[in-house]
Amino acid sequence: MSAAPDRLSHPGRWLAPDTFVGRVAVVTGGGTGLGLQVSRGLAALGATVVIASRSSEHHAAFLTEARARDWKAHSVVLDVREARDVRRAAEAIAADHGPVDILVNNAAGNFVCPAERLSSNAWRAVLGIVLDGTFYCSQHFGRGMIARGEGRILNIVATYAWTGMAGVVHSASAKAGVLALTRSLAVEWARFGLRVNAIAPGPFESDGARANLWPDEETKRALEAQIPLKRFASTDEVAAQCLWLLAPVSDYVNGECLVVDGGASVGGRMWAPGTRFSRSRGTDPT
Ligand code: HXC
Ligand code: NAP
Repeated sequence: MSAAPDRLSHPGRWLAPDTFVGRVAVVTGGGTGLGLQVSRGLAALGATVVIASRSSEHHAAFLTEARARDWKAHSVVLDVREARDVRRAAEAIAADHGPVDILVNNAAGNFVCPAERLSSNAWRAVLGIVLDGTFYCSQHFGRGMIARGEGRILNIVATYAWTGMAGVVHSASAKAGVLALTRSLAVEWARFGLRVNAIAPGPFESDGARANLWPDEETKRALEAQIPLKRFASTDEVAAQCLWLLAPVSDYVNGECLVVDGGASVGGRMWAPGTRFSRSRGTDPT
């Protein structure tokens, strides 16, 4: 009996297989969680993908899969908080792999801490990764895109960028800054042929989020209960929307923030989902 065919599941499987052929993409934090899924999708659809983050251990899974699948994949050790290192990385990647077409600002740090107890270092750690890092990468990779008259930047934010959220004032403030950065650069750099968009996911499982935000099942269940769809997204579901926004099919979308949160951030909280309206007229659809 012949071996079962290797059915590759990746979040871009809905797009044409050559969608990103000839493109060079950089994904910060591309070795884990959402960044890993976006990187897999880009590589599976033909891009040369460079993942960039602090820990080379986090790069191993993607590089190993890439070797097995003959994807064009590379990694650089980079702390996005260091502007000089980001500039050097941008120069080195362009020299080694060619001009960068796609940048995904996905790297983040987060943890729950009451605002009144947050140290200045803790505040700076998160603001540095999320807001400074997104700006430094946008600026240094963006310069190459501007020179070529083409490029796509996608920033990963969270819906609390505009709703706010207790316990994560550092991350919410940083993501709000990234949203403003997204919209500002979308306008400023459109004349150079760049598109700058954002994705705002609701909660999804990743090692980093689990460790820092919902360390036990009970907390996770409480969060899920607040989501109209009653479950977290999968990284695959969020990554699929990222790839859609990066693909040529979205070439007229600019300055947008696509919410992927199962309806959690829209209004109508006065009555909980499932409330029975005993005095209402009409038939019960269930
Ligand atoms: C309070 C904390 C803390 C915690 C760290 N600090 N963790 N304070 N509560 N749980 C403080 C430290 O004490 C220190 O301050 C300062 O923050 C810097 O800590 P370091 O460990 O030196 O920082 P660093 O090594 O740079 O690590 C960055 C990090 C870490 C952000 C703290 O958590 C990290 O690397 N995270 C990456 C993975 C991650 O967070 N993924 C989650 C993504 S989910 P002092 O004053 O002591 O020096 C997400 C959105 C979820 O972003 C949205 C859900 C809806
Ligand atoms: P994750 O797996 O913990 O990813 C975070 C990544 O950021 C890691 O790969 C980490 O790699 C990298 N990183 C952290 N600090 C860095 C730095 N200073 N320089 C370079 N890279 C750094 O988390 P995730 O849940 O997939 O999150 C991905 C994105 O989705 C983030 O922007 C996050 O804010 C957003 N988001 C997540 C959720 C959720 O529920 N999970 C919800 C909404 C939005 P290294 O450790 O190797 O540096």
